[in-house]
Amino acid sequence: MKICVTTASGVEAVTKREIYKLLGVDAPAISGRLCFEGGWDEIAKCNMYLRTANRVGIILGEFKAETFDDLFDGLKQIAFEEFIPADGKIIVTAKNVLSKLFAISATQSISKKAICERLFSKYRITTLPESGERYKVEVAILKDHVTVMLDTSGDGLHRRGYRGLVGEAPLKETLASAIIQLSVWNPSRPLADVFCGSGTIPIEAALIALNIASGKNRNFDFTEWKCFDKSIFDGVLEQAIAMEALDKEVRISGFDKTRVN
Ligand SMILES: C[S@@+](CC[C@H](N)C(=O)[O-])C[C@H]1O[C@@H](n2cnc3c(N)ncnc32)[C@H](O)[C@@H]1O
Repeated sequence: MKICVTTASGVEAVTKREIYKLLGVDAPAISGRLCFEGGWDEIAKCNMYLRTANRVGIILGEFKAETFDDLFDGLKQIAFEEFIPADGKIIVTAKNVLSKLFAISATQSISKKAICERLFSKYRITTLPESGERYKVEVAILKDHVTVMLDTSGDGLHRRGYRGLVGEAPLKETLASAIIQLSVWNPSRPLADVFCGSGTIPIEAALIALNIASGKNRNFDFTEWKCFDKSIFDGVLEQAIAMEALDKEVRISGFDKTRVN
């Protein structure tokens, strides 16, 4: 499969380093995307361990489209049935940049129609109940080049699962981790954030210091999919827990003038 890790613009070099450290893969970074070949094991590991990535996707197809007919026909060629079952709940998002097709909502609705028609003919049905698991499909058109990506993460990877309430404008966890990884800090040194707000920087530093995987306490869409063997994820999670260093002494603190719940 062609795996695509998306990251914030400006953070690509950090995410690239993380991917190299995790998988030994030197993924080229282009406009916030790092793509490489891999399987479900790599998808599970990227979701579990990449601290600065936004999402992990699978590229289902790429083609040129200058008209909505091109878009519809191109999408109908993609084997969505290899991933999406007859009862899959399909959510399509669209991005149009510097392209002849610039209407986002039309791109979205035409894409959804094409995906549904493909699945109607493959499953020999006339309606999709959409009562099953979620499948988020991103249709991104850049300079008339369409990239169709299936999002394996579901919720963005900044959602670590440790934050119940989202406070006012906290720093995204992925960005906090990138700042830490770009800094001179390492777990043997003390870290103090004297304007810590909701504590994202100290928390992310503690996760790094104690080797706690960023995806350990959350769910991902792909683990619920019928096309995925859940035992792969169980193995990755088990290994992540085994590698934790919870007894390690760390000197990390956060302060703020106001109390943040
Ligand atoms: C942009 S927020 C920090 C957000 C934080 N990185 C997070 O993840 O939630 C800035 C914080 O600085 C705090 N602050 C501002 N002036 C301060 C001061 N003089 N002493 C301590 N904290 C201060 C504010 O209360 C606020 O929570």
